[in-house]
Amino acid sequence: MERGLFISFEGPDGSGKSTQIEYLKEYFLEREIACVFTREPGGTHIGEEIREIILDKQNNDMTDLTEAFLYAASRSQHVEQVIQPALEAGKVVVCDRFVDSSIAYQGYARGLGDLVEEINRYATGNLLPDITFFIDVDPKVGKRRISSGERDRLESEKIRFHRKVYQGYIAMAEKDPDRIVTVDGSGTREEMRDFIMEHLTVVLKERGML
Ligand code: TYD
Repeated sequence: MERGLFISFEGPDGSGKSTQIEYLKEYFLEREIACVFTREPGGTHIGEEIREIILDKQNNDMTDLTEAFLYAASRSQHVEQVIQPALEAGKVVVCDRFVDSSIAYQGYARGLGDLVEEINRYATGNLLPDITFFIDVDPKVGKRRISSGERDRLESEKIRFHRKVYQGYIAMAEKDPDRIVTVDGSGTREEMRDFIMEHLTVVLKERGML
């Protein structure tokens, strides 16, 4: 059986990823393409428990390294239990955030640098998405979209932190333009949807999946 297709979505908090992912569900449903929608941190029962610990606002004494390891631990469980099996079964996997989030948030914004790539090589067994849609939204705009009462531990970080996350994403997109597709986040949600779907249709046709 042909291996499936691994798609991830990335972007600053409040970038509107979830809306685009919802559009994609309809896209695959209409075309009767088998797919799995999942997210990080989380995606497995153990991963969801790790997610609670990471995002809990009361855990404000968590060290940066602990944070990086917890994201990687959740990812390791996710890759082995959910992502790899689905890809091996020929399915499309759509993941809300993957390893690029760790590189942007823990590597660039927390300042842990290359170490984050290294621990994630173990966590993922070197698995990378085939396509990553990076929703390019100014972090200030993203932050404004989430009301302060709803913010989790990471979202509550200062704008300076979110700027570094954003710069991290821009640097990664420049380094790996074949995988990371930048989506102009200043357009309407329908414009973004059309752009993403056009790109995806080309890739699916190339792979004989459409
Ligand atoms: P989530 O509610 O999924 O945010 P969003 O809806 O914006 O995707 O919360 C995940 C938070 O965790 C988000 O602020 C990004 C952060 N994060 C990391 O810092 N590193 C990671 O590896 C991942 C997957 C997420």
